[in-house]
Amino acid sequence: SQSSVHVINHLDRDYLRQALERDVRMGLTSSPKWLPPKWFYDTAGSELFSRITRLPEYYPTRRELAILRGRAADLAAASRADTLVELGSGTSEKTELLLEALSAAGTLRAYTPVDVDAVTLEAAARRVAGRFAGLDVRAVCADFEHHLGLLPRTGRRMVAFLGGTIGNLEPVARRAFLKEVRATLRRGDTFLLGADLVKDTDRLVAAYDDAAGVTAAFNRNVLHVINRELRADFEPEAFEHVALYDERHEWIEMRLRAVRDLRVRVAELGLEVDFAAGEEMRTEISAKFRPEGLRAELAAAGFLVRRGYTDPDGDFTLILAEA
Ligand code: AVJ
Repeated sequence: SQSSVHVINHLDRDYLRQALERDVRMGLTSSPKWLPPKWFYDTAGSELFSRITRLPEYYPTRRELAILRGRAADLAAASRADTLVELGSGTSEKTELLLEALSAAGTLRAYTPVDVDAVTLEAAARRVAGRFAGLDVRAVCADFEHHLGLLPRTGRRMVAFLGGTIGNLEPVARRAFLKEVRATLRRGDTFLLGADLVKDTDRLVAAYDDAAGVTAAFNRNVLHVINRELRADFEPEAFEHVALYDERHEWIEMRLRAVRDLRVRVAELGLEVDFAAGEEMRTEISAKFRPEGLRAELAAAGFLVRRGYTDPDGDFTLILAEA
């Protein structure tokens, strides 16, 4: 039977535009300055992130894939899901292992990838539809932090949030997000969470500061996005990529550091911003977890933790929780 693909775009131009304006105005007028990681992911940024996942230093994607290879069948059996919803789906590459397992278990009917980048989302949706005959693919272009209400309401659902993207949320936002995911699920639905684990600082920092400079380009990409969308005049080359591990918070921070005094104009916001030489602007946090801590957070949000897997090196974890 034929697969069908629907792409539902909840992020219309106005919505995206207003969210970007709000974030940039807020972040650039704060002290210290900051920008949310969401805006890395235009089409060029999604492509740079894909390259990151293949870097020798960036272990999370390979570790998560290895866990999925070994455990997808068990996850499929434990969840008996017919509808897979994937938050922050990107290229959906890892997801195919889950889809294959759910299909082999005989339960799979529908797949809903959710991503902010419409181009990457649609390409992934079409590729997946081409591989799984009869699959009902309903891609949703949305911001997973704000649009959980738009997800499919029928079927036995598994919501997958892979890759460690949960680490982009600060603890308060994370608690709210987990509660909201829990609230959108019904008894028997499941939540599959992938998270990066606390480890040796040198390996963590290397994963976010690779020798080839791909992560540096990814980090600066947010400046290109703001230049294009809001007619700003950032000189991306005047900012250095910084990746450091904050041991107290157990998170990686990426920053952009001004190499000299700079004045930046953001024409569409009528905003003029000064950077002092050496000033750092935070562009991302990527929290690292301890398995027991993450289980406790899931339990506090009202989930029952059903399965927890870690790769043999203890680098990455996948947890299956039930509503
Ligand atoms: C997509 C959020 C999981 O935090 O590791 C990779 C993004 N940033 N290198 C991560 C990222 C720099 C990535 N996540």
